Amino acid sequence: MEAKPQVKLAPSILSADFARLGEQVTAAAKAGADYIHVDVMDGQFVPQITIGAPVVAALRKWTDLPLDVHLMIQTPEKQIAQFADAGADIITVHVEACPGLQQIVREIKGLGVKAGVSLNPETPLDSLSEVLPALDLVLVMTVNPGYGGQPFIESTLDKIANLRAELDEKGLAAELEVDGGINARVAPRVVKAGARVLVAGAAVFASGQTVEKALKELRASLS
Ligand code: DX5
Ligand code: ZN
Repeated sequence: MEAKPQVKLAPSILSADFARLGEQVTAAAKAGADYIHVDVMDGQFVPQITIGAPVVAALRKWTDLPLDVHLMIQTPEKQIAQFADAGADIITVHVEACPGLQQIVREIKGLGVKAGVSLNPETPLDSLSEVLPALDLVLVMTVNPGYGGQPFIESTLDKIANLRAELDEKGLAAELEVDGGINARVAPRVVKAGARVLVAGAAVFASGQTVEKALKELRASLS
């Protein structure tokens, strides 16, 4: 039988209680989270406004886990230094928001931070081809970005599988992360398609059970 791949879980604080973020992140860390996923929205690239670099700096004091910062914002090049200074470990920008993608990726890495690029469900994989060798992470959106708690879009499974094949064929090390609608039913399917980092917001922080139980259930779905 094929060995099970190592999979990282990245709870998204978007569905956490924003008034108790420190405690919620601590609970996720105790329950075995690998990354803390931080969703930054600017009210332009997506309709909502969430949080900025000061909240990343505040979270930095509560956890040693890598802070995986997902920038759903226009002109991210204006903000990346602030997020790096605040303590982000991974900064992910959207291909749809970056005409000069290669330059932004270079800038992120120049700040000593891992660089990720995210694709909306409708955005084709070939928009990444030039930059792929330089990336530490590719974030495949499995819902349209903007809100937590949306249903997983099934057609993204093929994209995940195609990206997995491309990374493997080219021997590239970028982590393949998926984001949106991930729960214990969907998780084994995205892993089978090739995902190796799973973001989960509502399934961890708004499931009606404790963060610990919810995260353990997600982990158990993969064994
Ligand atoms: C959506 C965000 C996600 C969101 C996922 O735009 O990028 O990270 O928190 O939430 P769930 O897991 O609830 O779909
Ligand atoms: Zn996200």
